[in-house]
Amino acid sequence: MNEPAPILALKDVSKSFGAVRALQDVSLSLYPGEVHALAGENGAGKSTLIKALAGVHRPDSGQVLLDGRPVAFHGPADARDAGIAVIYQEPTLFPDLSIAENIFMGRQPRRTLGRIDRRAVHETTAGLMRRLGVDLAPDRPARGLSIADQQIVEIAKALSFDARVLIMDEPTAALTGDETARLFSVVRTLRAEGAAVLFISHRLDEIFELCGRVTTLRDGRRISSEPLAGLTEDDLVRRMVGRELDDLYPKQDAAVGAVALSVSRLTREGVFRDVSFEVRRGEIVALAGLVGAGRTEVAQAVFGVDRADAGEVKVDGTVLRPGSPTAAMAAGLALVPEDRRQRGLVMEMSIERNIGLTGLGEVRRGGLVRRALEHDRAADWAVRLQLKYNRLADAVGVLSGGNQQKVVLAKWLATEPSVLIVDEPTRGIDVGTKAEVHRLLSSLAAEGLAVLMISSDLPEVIGMADRVLVMREGRLVAELPREGATEETVMAAATGLGERAAA
Ligand SMILES: Nc1ncnc2c1ncn2[C@@H]1O[C@H](COP(=O)(O)OP(=O)(O)OP(=O)(O)O)[C@@H](O)[C@H]1O
Ligand SMILES: [Mg+2]
Repeated sequence: MNEPAPILALKDVSKSFGAVRALQDVSLSLYPGEVHALAGENGAGKSTLIKALAGVHRPDSGQVLLDGRPVAFHGPADARDAGIAVIYQEPTLFPDLSIAENIFMGRQPRRTLGRIDRRAVHETTAGLMRRLGVDLAPDRPARGLSIADQQIVEIAKALSFDARVLIMDEPTAALTGDETARLFSVVRTLRAEGAAVLFISHRLDEIFELCGRVTTLRDGRRISSEPLAGLTEDDLVRRMVGRELDDLYPKQDAAVGAVALSVSRLTREGVFRDVSFEVRRGEIVALAGLVGAGRTEVAQAVFGVDRADAGEVKVDGTVLRPGSPTAAMAAGLALVPEDRRQRGLVMEMSIERNIGLTGLGEVRRGGLVRRALEHDRAADWAVRLQLKYNRLADAVGVLSGGNQQKVVLAKWLATEPSVLIVDEPTRGIDVGTKAEVHRLLSSLAAEGLAVLMISSDLPEVIGMADRVLVMREGRLVAELPREGATEETVMAAATGLGERAAA
């Protein structure tokens, strides 16, 4: 029996960025009709590998093979013309263009843009949205779309031409369960049609559900390429991190102290209503719910990014001036946002400056923000969070996606807050570091920090929270103590299905 030939392959590819050897002699073959997972820790080289496949990076050595023949793509457009569709880790939409325009952008030479058949573009886009089972108007501008919706548009863009190879860099990181399920069914259809799919995710359950084979990378080197059948999650983790992983949810018991954050009857018309809760020192309180339940919006109103229409927020007994993040920070509140690109980081600025950006600590103590101090503090956090970088003076934008996420965390933890709100703290973070972030949150709580954790990761909610608050459609609908919180009880409250069953 003849083995089918790979559609696309890398042979002994190396790629360095200055002193960083992002890929070393890596080979990978993508066969028609397979979904192939690419796994590895943050900074292992996954995104670099796909950029080498897609013509964004030219390998320093080694070859890219298309249908067995060496090719040199001179940019993403070349790869696309060869039938390779790529969904990058960070959405790359043009905010001022509509969804439909973004999808067809660059498929036509720029000068003919004006001559595109607008109706056809509109209708094709509507068709793609139906195929993905989402309700997004083709004419809507990309500006203001949620991360999940931006990702959907990227996926639609990739599907809009007949790709033989579909490459997806953490496409599900911001998607809801339903959206992920729909994406998977589209992927399975493509696979059945003979396409090759390369799939990157830090969610191991997704890898096992969707993929047939897996390639693992560690520090830029290939560790294995093998079928998933017969592998356990532990096997996979061991290949990725090179050691046994201890407890993923190292929750310590902490002495619960005074109320640090008190939110009463907070309301934003049309968004959320009458939200009241408290978080005490030493506690980790999870805010659970479906995507769109209003959790991020509550966090932003508490922090003052958005102005609430009614209600009150107190930190350590002091009422916060509404709509003022500066006042919130001065009172000891910190918010780690979910979207690091939009709110978290200044990409061109160095790692150490980004961490020092909220250098309010020193300012409060009357001192000058000194570079040396900033550097030491950044170095300190880099160790605590196992940041993978070359020099702290490098721009944050060159870090891998997960490492950028760690810088956002470091930046806020460096302000030594008394209340920390974290919105999806481990999204895009690899398993090893995830355990590290959990350990950090737990030990900070043990030192007296009050933590409010928004998370869509149910095992994380169950594993880390002392109490679970559940939101549904803009209201707080349940509060579960640690003992009563299971994936079932949280989901039942989040969806409202439990009530119907009980009635
Ligand atoms: N343009 C660049 N300039 C300098 N260094 C880079 C650049 N792109 C990537 N790197 C470095 O190469 C290494 C691999 O990064 P890559 O983005 O491929 O990791 P990754 O496996 O995708 O990680 P993550 O899971 O965090 O997304 C990292 O050390 C990163 O800092
Ligand atoms: Mg990446």
